[in-house]
Amino acid sequence: MSDEILRLENVCKRFGGVVVADNISLSLRAGDVLGLIGPNGAGKTTLFNLISGLFQPDAGRIYLEGRLLAGPLHRRARAGIARTWQHMRLFRSMTVMENMLVGPRDYPGESMLRSMAWTGAVRRAEAAARDRAVQVLERMGLAGAADTVVVDLPFGQQKLIGVARALMNDGRCLLLDEPMAGVEGSNYETMQRIVRDEAASGRAVCVVEHNVSFIKDLCTEAVFMSYGRILQRGSVDDLTRSRELTDLYFGTADA
Ligand SMILES: Nc1ncnc2c1ncn2[C@@H]1O[C@H](COP(=O)(O)OP(=O)(O)OP(=O)(O)O)[C@@H](O)[C@H]1O
Ligand SMILES: [Mg+2]
Repeated sequence: MSDEILRLENVCKRFGGVVVADNISLSLRAGDVLGLIGPNGAGKTTLFNLISGLFQPDAGRIYLEGRLLAGPLHRRARAGIARTWQHMRLFRSMTVMENMLVGPRDYPGESMLRSMAWTGAVRRAEAAARDRAVQVLERMGLAGAADTVVVDLPFGQQKLIGVARALMNDGRCLLLDEPMAGVEGSNYETMQRIVRDEAASGRAVCVVEHNVSFIKDLCTEAVFMSYGRILQRGSVDDLTRSRELTDLYFGTADA
């Protein structure tokens, strides 16, 4: 399929005796906003960690735009996996702009040799990264915060900065881990708009989120995970109507 962006084939991972990814197969196409839902400990973040290369799978394969993904985090970021972190992982004592500049796919400062040998090209690449950062921050209504130290921003804005930093990576696959947790009001609306726009621009977006109304509003489809397994993929309505899944999620099973 030509517009397939991400494909997982039979991905498995265990930590000690605990199976956290149990033969996961999944496919995302350009324009998809796939919701990834399920109870705490289901393996949602672990799946993102496997896709983005923080962990290597014990078995199975992951493809990005038809190419086998391998190697650690930075290699996969460069290949085009952009992600956020459930606990943000911002450099809290650095400015927003400094945080943004660790996000591009191929920032020249990554290579000392290149920085020394091609100073003109490096300067141009740095200027381009800064321009992109300003554009992303403008889209979020946060251009005025570029020189603010992250810790001085309200929590909701810090969450937006976490997503903004991920958007510095212009790859085709965007993974968002609980972007709405603690986000309200205008920041919530901004987050919705950004996710919609990213999908419309041709990315494949996967969102882990416990906020079911956010998932309902935005996601084209959702996947329900429990104990490292995908139990069902379908429309958000189908998943939230399923008695079996809501019992698993909310623990409301009649005992
Ligand atoms: N590095 C690790 N070493 C050992 N076990 C881990 C590690 N990372 C995650 N786990 C375990 O894997 C399981 C899945 O955790 P994960 O963080 O992926 O869940 P989650 O679905 O993201 O939950 P939540 O909704 O609470 O964020 C849990 O049992 C967790 O304890
Ligand atoms: Mg998680």
